Amino acid sequence: MLTVDRFDRPLRSLRISVTDRCNLRCQYCMPETDYVWLPRESILTFEETASVVDAFTSVGVDRVRITGGEPLLRRNLPQLVEQLAAKPAIADLSLTTNGVLLRDQAAALRAAGLHRITVSLDTLKGDRFRELARFNELPAVLAGIDAASRAGFASLKIDTVVMRNRNDDELVPLIEFGKSVGAEVRFIEYMDVGGATHWSMDAVLSRQEILARLASVYGPIAAVEGRDSAPAERFQLHDGTTFGIIASTTEPFCAACDRSRLTADGLWLLCLYARGGLDLRRPLREGATRDEIARLITTVWSMRADRGAEERLGAAAREPFIPVAALKRDAHLEMHTRGG
Ligand code: GTP
Ligand code: 5AD
Ligand code: SF4
Repeated sequence: MLTVDRFDRPLRSLRISVTDRCNLRCQYCMPETDYVWLPRESILTFEETASVVDAFTSVGVDRVRITGGEPLLRRNLPQLVEQLAAKPAIADLSLTTNGVLLRDQAAALRAAGLHRITVSLDTLKGDRFRELARFNELPAVLAGIDAASRAGFASLKIDTVVMRNRNDDELVPLIEFGKSVGAEVRFIEYMDVGGATHWSMDAVLSRQEILARLASVYGPIAAVEGRDSAPAERFQLHDGTTFGIIASTTEPFCAACDRSRLTADGLWLLCLYARGGLDLRRPLREGATRDEIARLITTVWSMRADRGAEERLGAAAREPFIPVAALKRDAHLEMHTRGG
């Protein structure tokens, strides 16, 4: 059964954040010195997560992505992967990680049944990595990518958030690096999501500029036909190398959005920019059945009219979306709680 919202968008994809903690502090996501964390007892157990997932698949979700914070910080994560991979309704099971802990976990994740993996990598320069992510972890991330490329995943992607004058001189080196490890690189426009408290429009390198810079080095770039609901638009260089651009800031794709997010403590968010969501932890812990939770989900999704990124495009003077004080009051507004 497919559930559609007010704009006729089906609910197909669920992004599950398994922890709000992170072992990096990327400037575009966690630039502040202090953070408020979700209370430990509110974090869903793997069994609870698996039950919620059953409710979602019963109403049409068939793609699941595990996110964080940093998901590999969650103890015994391969056990959750195994539980999810065993569900026939999930056609696509993927994970987004910063890669720091990936070297030691890649093989176990693959063995547990994870299909695809995406690693965030914003620079290939050690000093710059430390400047952008606060910790000196580039060697660990590179070792993680290497382990993932040998673990036999169906696909390996690299996500790079491009920030003007911070890492925008590395577009070509990153494409070349992607080629060398068999990964497709996707350049992401810097977004003004909750948590991006240092965001400014000046720091955004647009899709158009990214393409122009790459064309000046590689020559003509062809669009790859057949875009689905995925945020990335794909392109091809003349040597056949493909890459993606996720233009959430300057050319949002809300009209095709079939995604929703579950935070580690069971709050279901219908949009990356949503100010609130539906608490699924409470009904779950009060003993609601799968079908009762499924009904809550379909009722709420059928009323959904979110188009957060498009609305932001219309904002007159664009500033960081959520002020620091509000983030301190509600960690659910943070991108690192929502899982990117
Ligand atoms: P694939 O299935 O591998 O294409 O995954 P994906 O591109 O959906 O997932 P990924 O986690 O790699 O997302 C990459 C980035 O796209 C995120 O970090 C966000 O910056 C952006 N993004 C993902 N989902 C949304 C969304 O619902 N809205 C907007 N505006 N941006 C999104
Ligand atoms: N802009 C764009 N992408 C972001 N992410 C986090 N914060 C931002 C932001 N401000 C995404 C990146 C990162 C993933 C974990 O979350 O893709 O790789
Ligand atoms: Fe960086 Fe992801 Fe951690 Fe945010 S959650 S600080 S993007 S590694």
